[in-house]
Amino acid sequence: MCGIVGAVAQRNVLGILIEGLKRLEYRGYDSAGVALIDDDLQLQVRKEMGKVASLEALLEQSPTKGTIGIAHTRWATHGKPSQKNAHPHASDNIAVVHNGIIENHDELREELTGKGYSFASETDTEVIVHQVNDLVKQGKDLFSAVKAAVETFEGAYALGVINTQEPDRLVAARSGSPLVIGVGIEEYFIASDQLALRQVTDRFIFLEEGDLVDIRNDQLRIFDANGEQVERKIVTLTEAEESADKGEYRHYMLKEIYEQPKVLRNTLQGRISKTQVLEEAFGAEAKAIFDQVESVQIVACGTSYHSGLVAKYWMEDWAGIPCYVEVASEFRYRKVVVPKNSLFVTISQSGETADTLAALRSAKEAGYLASLTICNVANSSLARESDLSFMTLAGPEIGVASTKAFTTQLVALQLLSIALGRRHNLSSDKEQALVSALHQLPQLCEDVLALDDTILHTSEAFSEKHHSLFLGRGVQYPVAMEGALKLKEISYIHAEAYPAGELKHGPLALVDSDMPIVAVAPNDDLLEKLKSNLQEVQARGGKLFVFADKNSGFVNDESTVVINLPHVDDSIAPLVYTLPLQLLSYHVAVLKGTDVDQPRNLAKSVTVE
Ligand code: G6P
Repeated sequence: MCGIVGAVAQRNVLGILIEGLKRLEYRGYDSAGVALIDDDLQLQVRKEMGKVASLEALLEQSPTKGTIGIAHTRWATHGKPSQKNAHPHASDNIAVVHNGIIENHDELREELTGKGYSFASETDTEVIVHQVNDLVKQGKDLFSAVKAAVETFEGAYALGVINTQEPDRLVAARSGSPLVIGVGIEEYFIASDQLALRQVTDRFIFLEEGDLVDIRNDQLRIFDANGEQVERKIVTLTEAEESADKGEYRHYMLKEIYEQPKVLRNTLQGRISKTQVLEEAFGAEAKAIFDQVESVQIVACGTSYHSGLVAKYWMEDWAGIPCYVEVASEFRYRKVVVPKNSLFVTISQSGETADTLAALRSAKEAGYLASLTICNVANSSLARESDLSFMTLAGPEIGVASTKAFTTQLVALQLLSIALGRRHNLSSDKEQALVSALHQLPQLCEDVLALDDTILHTSEAFSEKHHSLFLGRGVQYPVAMEGALKLKEISYIHAEAYPAGELKHGPLALVDSDMPIVAVAPNDDLLEKLKSNLQEVQARGGKLFVFADKNSGFVNDESTVVINLPHVDDSIAPLVYTLPLQLLSYHVAVLKGTDVDQPRNLAKSVTVE
C-alpha cells in the first residue's frame, strides 16, 4: 500500500526521505517519488516507476537537495502504475503526497477543469493538489488552504503538502489512513508507519482521525477534527520495535518463519503461568467484560481471517460458546443481527487494515457488548479504538505473506478461548493440559523447522505446476486454507483448499497426475476419515504430499510423499502444521524466482478499501 515520508529540518533531508521509502518497501508498491524545495526555493520533483533504487538512479543523474520535502511509494488504485501517476503530484508551487482514496474525485476534477486546471495524471490525488492551489490563489496560507480543501474531500486520506511560497512549512492531515509524526531535535518528520523513521528518531506522535498538522522545523501544532488545537502524547518506542533487517537470511519471509519459536515464546511469556492463562493480559477491564460474554464475532482479512476460522473450533469446543467468523469487507456492509452479550473481536497484524477498522466502527454502532483486538502493532488504529487489546509480540513483519503474525495470533486466540472457556464448559484440568501443551509449542516448532531440507526437496515437485489442492479436516481445514493462500501469494501457483470430505462433491473432477495434492494429517479423531478421502485421490492418479504425524501410518510410495512431523497434542497441531506449509511455499517461490517478500500486485498493509 502507498507509503508517505516527509521531513522539515535544518539539514538536507533527501537521504532521510529515501531511507524512509526503503523502509516502507515491504508494504508493496509500484513506483516512487520525492519532492523537495531547493536552496533557490524551486520545487524539485523526481519520480520513477519500479523500485526505490530506480528513483535513486534518477536522482544520481538529476541531483537535488533541500531542508524540506515529501516522498511516496505508490500502490496503484486510480490509474495504472506509471511515471506520470506516481506521487508527488504538483500544481504550480505546491506538491502533495497522498495515501487513501478520494471518492468524489470525478466531481472535483470536473470543477477544477472548469476553473482552468489541467490534469497530468489519472489519479484521484491530483484533485487534492489543484484544490489546495486554488484556495492558496484565493489568498489562504498553506495550512488554511489544506484545512478548507479536506472539507471538500470524501473518502480516506493521509496527506503531506508543501508550497515553495512558504518554504519552511509542511502541512499534514489524517482521516482514514494512518500517519505518524516523528519528533526530532529542531526537526519533525511524517510517515505512514513509524518504521520509516526509526533511523532518525524513537519519539512518535500517533495522529487521531481528523487531525490536521502544521509543521515547521521548530514548531508543531496539531488541530483535532473540531479545529481545536490539541496536545498529543509523544510515545518513545523501545528496542522491542526491532530494526527491519534481514540478517543472515535471503528473504524476510524466511527470517520470519524461523523467528516463530522465539516470538511464540515472547507472546506466551507473562500471559500463562505453569498451569493457567493470566487473563489480565487482555487488559484491566477484561475480567468484567469476559464474565458477561455469551458469544463471539470475529472479523478480519486475509491470513488474519484464517486464524479466526481456526479459533472457531477452539471457542466452540473448549468454551462451548457460539463463535462466528467473517471477512471484514463483507461484515461491514451487511445488516447484522447481534446476539446478546456478544464480544466483537478483530484480528490484524498491522492494526490498520481499512476494512477491519471500518467493521469495528460499524460494530460499535451495532450494539456488541465490547470490542477486543488481537493485533501486532501497538498504537495502531485498531488498538486505539478497541475496548480491549491483546498484543501479539511477533515483532515487525516485513514479508508481505504473513507467517509469524499468524501463529502468534493463534496463540492469542487459544488464550482467549481458554479465558472465556473457564466461565463456561472448560474444567481446570483441561485448562492445565492446554497450557502445558502451549509450553511445549516453541520447542516443537524448532523441531519442525529442522525438517527444512526435506521440505526444500519436496518443493521441486511443485515448481512446474499451475494448480494445486490443499486438504484438511476439522480444525486443519483452515490450516489448509492458509497453506493454499501462502502458495498462491508468493509462487503464483493457483492453490485451493477444501475440507477433505467435500472432495467428491466437485474438486475430485480436477484430480490428475498434474495436480499436486497437499494433505494435513495429524493423528487426530478425523485421521481415518481423511485417509479414506486421500484414497479417492490416489484412485484417480493424483500425487499426494502428506504432512503427517509420524504415527499416522502413511507410507511413501509412487503416488505418495510423506513428510513425517513429530507427534503433537491436538490443541497445538494447527500451529505446528502451519510451519511446513509456509516453508513449502517459500521454497517453491524461490525455485520459481518470484519476488518472495513483495509479490506482484499485493501490499502488506491494506489501508484502502
Ligand atoms: C494484506 C496482507 C496479508 C494480510 C491482510 C490482512 O492482504 O498482504 O498478509 O493477511 O492484508 O492484514 P492485517 O494487517 O489486518 O492482518
